[in-house]
Amino acid sequence: MALSDPHPWWRDAVIYQVYPRSFADADGDGVGDLAGIRAHLGHLSALGVDAIWMSPWYPSPMADAGYDVSDFRDIDPVFGTLAEAEALIEEAHAAGIRMIVDIVPNHLSSEHPWFKAALASPDAPERDYFWFRPGRGENGDEMPTDWRGEFGGTTWTRTPDGSWYLHLFAPEQVDLNWDHPVVRAEFESILRFWFDRGVDGIRIDSAALLLKDTALPEVVEGEPHPFHDLDGVHEIYRSWRRVADEYGGDRALIGEVWMPEVDRFANYLRPDELHAAFNFDFLGCAWDPRLMRECVDRTLAAHAAIGAPATWVLSNHDVTRHVTRYGRSDTTFSFDNNLDGTPVDLELGTRRARAAALLSLSLPGATYIYQGEELGLWENENIPVSSYQDPMWERRGHSRDGCRVPLPWTGDEAPFGFTTATATPWLPQPAEWKDRTAQAQTGDPNSMLELYRSAIALRRVEPGLHANDMAWLDVSASVVAYTRGSGFACVVNMSDAPIDLPDHQSTLLASGTLDGDRLPPDTAVWLRLH
Ligand code: GLC
Repeated sequence: MALSDPHPWWRDAVIYQVYPRSFADADGDGVGDLAGIRAHLGHLSALGVDAIWMSPWYPSPMADAGYDVSDFRDIDPVFGTLAEAEALIEEAHAAGIRMIVDIVPNHLSSEHPWFKAALASPDAPERDYFWFRPGRGENGDEMPTDWRGEFGGTTWTRTPDGSWYLHLFAPEQVDLNWDHPVVRAEFESILRFWFDRGVDGIRIDSAALLLKDTALPEVVEGEPHPFHDLDGVHEIYRSWRRVADEYGGDRALIGEVWMPEVDRFANYLRPDELHAAFNFDFLGCAWDPRLMRECVDRTLAAHAAIGAPATWVLSNHDVTRHVTRYGRSDTTFSFDNNLDGTPVDLELGTRRARAAALLSLSLPGATYIYQGEELGLWENENIPVSSYQDPMWERRGHSRDGCRVPLPWTGDEAPFGFTTATATPWLPQPAEWKDRTAQAQTGDPNSMLELYRSAIALRRVEPGLHANDMAWLDVSASVVAYTRGSGFACVVNMSDAPIDLPDHQSTLLASGTLDGDRLPPDTAVWLRLH
């Protein structure tokens, strides 16, 4: 593909996130693996996705489910081998599916050889690849700063020689010093390692956190933040972009950038930086027509200003599944607003999730699907605390395990074909998922799975959904309605009463049963206008 391709794949792809621990387990140890993914590639082909984003599959002590990497150039034995990863990339490509790998540049596992060398001797050159600092106070036994971590809790751990090292996440995730040229060179080499193996894109973990203010100031409201979104981070992504562009121009860099200020967010998507970034504004938005329209407007305006494609994300491995979120009275998501255990109406949440699928798959840009959302899975809020594995739980009183439960594939009881019949999945599956298996839903026109399949298939062929433009349709204040191109419209009824549909020629797809020409509450429809 030429560098100037006006319609590169990443601008409007449907990208499916595979969380390898929980997708499918072929070897019967209760944890998903690459053989399991290879055996279920047909599911992704039938779904019609354009690309897979693979959450980390590298060797890791799994202190944070693989986001604590000890070797970026291999595969953890629990998942398989590098040869299997290469085979998976090839098989995905043969099925017309691109592959995106997840790179975690902010930190390394405390088991990484660099950190082990740094701990072994205060004179080791590796010491400077991290943030070792003396403590404050007379005996140096106070942390160098009072920074709060991204999981909550403190951010420094003391080593046996008395110095402290920085970790914005768990102590097993040691922050790298991105001012060091060896660190920069290492990650460029890691990018090449995976691009050379044919991967089509990189998802960049915690992309805005890499640089720290070397003076280590405290976090003070109204003053520049010491580790969020420092200006120098853009130079790092410019150099990554140069590496990606060496590969012919169709390799994509996709950033995980949590940032409330849209203009600061958009800086990451300037033409010589990242290609795309996850839209957490949309993910966290309430099921509310005015707020949703404002969010879409804000998103499109920010991206248009720099010519980047918008993305539409409803769920991922870090957030409460949206069937559950949309079934609560507070339908927003934020880590600071812990709604765990508050009442959920799963039927309502499912109805809204179906409508949200038609929304997120028909807005202009790329759409991300988190594994299991196509099955309509909800958050498992009944995992015994003793089974929690997420390091966030201890520090923040919220566990992300409920959205990471292994997928149900077949059969009437757990483990629902996720693993061998006698094995125990690494997190428990709700018994009610017997109706949500891929097998139970296949061929059922009312199922979530068939809705996603139909929507993605239509998205491929519907000319309006390939148009760049989008315009609001004035239906009613309680409705989110827009056209794409001249002949397509999506109408989402977010009110609690049925509404009249605008003039149209035919209904292409509906998320629920229409009442003649009336659209019931919490239902969406795709229309052919003429
Ligand atoms: C990102 C990942 C999350 C992980 C964290 C630390 O936010 O999505 O799962 O815990 O970074 O790597």
